[in-house]
Amino acid sequence: MPTFEIGERDFLLDGRPFQVISGALHYFRVHPDQWAERIRAARLMGLNTIETYVAWNFHAPEPDQFDLGGRRDLGRFLDLVAAEGLHAIVRPGPYICAEWDGGGLPAWLFAADPAGGTAGPAGGSAGGATGVRRHDPAFLDAIGTYYARLLPVVAARQVTRGGPVLMVQVENEYGAYPGVPDDERVAYLRELVRRTREQGIDVPLFTSDQADDEHLSRGGLPELHKTANFGSRSPERLTTLRRHQPTGPLMCMEFWDGWFDSWGQVHHVTAPETTAQDLDDLLAAGASVNLYMFHGGTNLGLTSGANDKGTYLPITTSYDYDAPLSEHGAPTAKFHALRAVIAKHAPVPDELPGDPAPAPVVDVELGRRAALADVVHLLAPDVVASSDGAPTMDALRQWSGFALCSTTVRADDGVLVVDEVRDRAYVALDGDPVGVLDRTTHVNVLPLPRRAGTLTFLVEDRGRVNYGPRIGEPKGLVGPVRTATRLLTDWEAAPLHLTAAPRLLGDVAWTAADPEAPVAGPSFHRGTFDSVAGADHFLRLDGWTRGLVWVNGELLGRYSAEGPTGTLYVPGPLVRAERNELVVLELTGAAAPRARCVPAPDLGPTES
Ligand code: GLA
Repeated sequence: MPTFEIGERDFLLDGRPFQVISGALHYFRVHPDQWAERIRAARLMGLNTIETYVAWNFHAPEPDQFDLGGRRDLGRFLDLVAAEGLHAIVRPGPYICAEWDGGGLPAWLFAADPAGGTAGPAGGSAGGATGVRRHDPAFLDAIGTYYARLLPVVAARQVTRGGPVLMVQVENEYGAYPGVPDDERVAYLRELVRRTREQGIDVPLFTSDQADDEHLSRGGLPELHKTANFGSRSPERLTTLRRHQPTGPLMCMEFWDGWFDSWGQVHHVTAPETTAQDLDDLLAAGASVNLYMFHGGTNLGLTSGANDKGTYLPITTSYDYDAPLSEHGAPTAKFHALRAVIAKHAPVPDELPGDPAPAPVVDVELGRRAALADVVHLLAPDVVASSDGAPTMDALRQWSGFALCSTTVRADDGVLVVDEVRDRAYVALDGDPVGVLDRTTHVNVLPLPRRAGTLTFLVEDRGRVNYGPRIGEPKGLVGPVRTATRLLTDWEAAPLHLTAAPRLLGDVAWTAADPEAPVAGPSFHRGTFDSVAGADHFLRLDGWTRGLVWVNGELLGRYSAEGPTGTLYVPGPLVRAERNELVVLELTGAAAPRARCVPAPDLGPTES
């Protein structure tokens, strides 16, 4: 059987020096019908390896579930990598960061009692989880179950068993996780290693950390190979890495060749020439590399994460990343620039991936509408009462998306103050909009009309924080909700089941809408369109404000007028020739219920 080892100077594949030239491609961000094509494009750029994270919460939406089928079929993904003649690197976390919801950690981990769902010892209401990513028995037990379900898929596909997997990462940038004493760090990482080996993983294990002394010294173990993450100043970073990894091959495990986008910020791009020069420096030094990303893909559904370093910034639906292969699989200028660099150091196939044809232009009239208030019974039937404060979304076991909370107010209540809203709440009094509480802009107070009535909060989790000490914090209305005169008690709350909303709404709920007239949210809008079966589409929602979009029953993700992204990518495999169904949940309002598919993506304004 083949072997893959860490030698004195090099990686050794079957005993011979091997320079890993890898690119990241997350199966969970790409429609499975497109996996093969994207992997092939990686080979045509000259890559010899595909790297993927595994997002734990993608497979385990609840503690007793583990799904490895369809979009979650990691085994099939790795088999396609092998079929293309490429190797693979797998990074199963348990934490992955990756701008993914909660950094891949399932939100249920942070509940004290999986059945009861209240935030407990593993997570505090202010965030700052105590048990997670630490040597904590409950957390390690959960990891044991995760590994036992996942790792056999990887183990069966190791190079040592004739498969593509060369190596497996343990944790992710653990050196950047604050607040864990050094001896506990070592104990935790060693326990991950032990449990990984226990599942039959016999290829080399490694850690990856940001390329500075502080992170590299805290993130790894003496007995594990260390790699570093950086996107510039390659020679200097390699020197830093060498200080911490005195022997063996040097590898940049995340060569950041682009960057992610956050709602309300500019679209990030990097100059292909600069990235190419940095890659050339790396490869010329004999180092191995994993391009982060080769192909970014899309945060489909409600899967995007968020950062909060003082200001909460949720990640956009597009994870194009300004990567060499664009979100819709087109080779970019960066693809060609990096391919030319790789060709200086390794064989590159002559063939190039084709440029996709311009996408069909289609106008869609969303002629049917349903106000959210009129269909709440279909989408939020599981109402719970709380004589105390408002339950968090986590207490409702609503791990992503939306929940509804309501209580009554009096005429003298006057003003509303919420300790923390995570992350946004659309507030209405007897159905009349009162205002929006918003975490990003620190709006925690709303004046109330001077009348009594039922106050309803449509609370939105815009993505769980994926980096730093706020990982694991609960969502919803957090802390007491006060008015000018008292604490608000006696709440009713219910999770809103939106992922399958088009199916749950069925046909009964819709009424005809004037295609010219502005619409008020929160409301659903539905229309159909004919187009080219299997063709990618780019959906523009000009004049709409913010909400969610489904195509043929699949929740594509969030859109927002704040940008930067101007179009939503609709993967071709979702599109048929006739009667495609477009459903939009608009939370605020739209100038008219019309949408348009345009020929090319618009990822928004850049800095310069
Ligand atoms: C770090 C993490 C990745 C990703 C990048 C930024 O390197 O390890 O998961 O979050 O930052 O894209």
